[in-house]
Amino acid sequence: MKNIVRSIALIICCMIVMTSCTPAKQGGQTQEKNEDKIRIGMSFDSFIIERWQRDRDVFVSTAKEYGAEVNVQNASGDVEEQKKQIEYLIAKEMDVIVIICADSEKLKDSVEKAKDAGIRVIAYDRLLMDTDAILYYATFDNKMVGTIIANEIIDQADLNEVRKAGDYRTIEFFMGSPDDNNAYMFYTGLMEVLRPYMDDGTLVCKSGKFTFNETAIIRWSEEMAAEKCPRLLETHYKDEDLDICASVFDGFAYGCKTALEDAGYTERNWPIITGQDADLKACKNILEGVQTSSVYKDTRVLAEKCVTMVNAVCNGSTPEINDIEQYNNRVITVPSYLCTPVIINADNIQEIIIDSGYYTEEELMGE
Ligand code: GAL
Repeated sequence: MKNIVRSIALIICCMIVMTSCTPAKQGGQTQEKNEDKIRIGMSFDSFIIERWQRDRDVFVSTAKEYGAEVNVQNASGDVEEQKKQIEYLIAKEMDVIVIICADSEKLKDSVEKAKDAGIRVIAYDRLLMDTDAILYYATFDNKMVGTIIANEIIDQADLNEVRKAGDYRTIEFFMGSPDDNNAYMFYTGLMEVLRPYMDDGTLVCKSGKFTFNETAIIRWSEEMAAEKCPRLLETHYKDEDLDICASVFDGFAYGCKTALEDAGYTERNWPIITGQDADLKACKNILEGVQTSSVYKDTRVLAEKCVTMVNAVCNGSTPEINDIEQYNNRVITVPSYLCTPVIINADNIQEIIIDSGYYTEEELMGE
């Protein structure tokens, strides 16, 4: 009897080993394929946004270190183009396709085609909605992004003291794109913290527009933020200064900065302006004192996490996951790895950005 049990255990063990050696792409491929380089197709929303250029560079070099090769596609912000590019990557028989979607809701059919072809799909930074065709999600803790921006506003504006004194500060909101699931998470995290200050009148939004739909800026457009801010100043802040621009993107912060300069704001009444992504220009603006903060997302960490995810998927093992609750895409809750975002401002930029080698001193000081 013991022998039979031992034999069955051995057979099961062999099956597990064989499954874990199954090459990434299923169907008609031999064990030899496993010795080949892992082939990753990576489909980007657009490189107009500075952040995605950094993500591309660091992802490609990290993948190389792991012996994988990456076929990078750039959809230039066009959803139809991104669909075509995903189909191209399917035709090229990638082992894994990593997607930074231009629209969280419109790629369902394309990723399902990948799944049908036996190709694993990983969502990178932005979640893909309404499909079970995604295996994993590698991102930053998006709700935490909103929370830390809100806490930064409270600290920088000394809102608890303002509240005690029975005073108030004015605030306007520049929220993310409604076709990006992250934008809702940023808003939720931010409002959870700021709402009580709005409810008791410590924060006053003179435009009266603070719901997500009223404040979302489509396609993360810097130009639209640059048009919106002067309109707000013109209509609601003729007699009183705007104290806080609550923005969730460095691009929006630039638009606000230009509008405020044009409206005659100076060092004396310069508002708090927040951002996200720690773009080079944003870091320079922080050093100059014309942007208060940004959210530093170390793309090196995200790339590393995602590449190890790809590796695990291709080797039949389970990647490291630290969230199995937050990211329900209306069909499944996608197992995720969330990296930690960090606020940067004039006080910690040296330590967090320069000392860590994210940007060099020369880059930050240069034109
Ligand atoms: C979000 C991303 C942010 C920012 C924004 C605009 O999805 O999480 O870091 O880059 O898109 O590209």
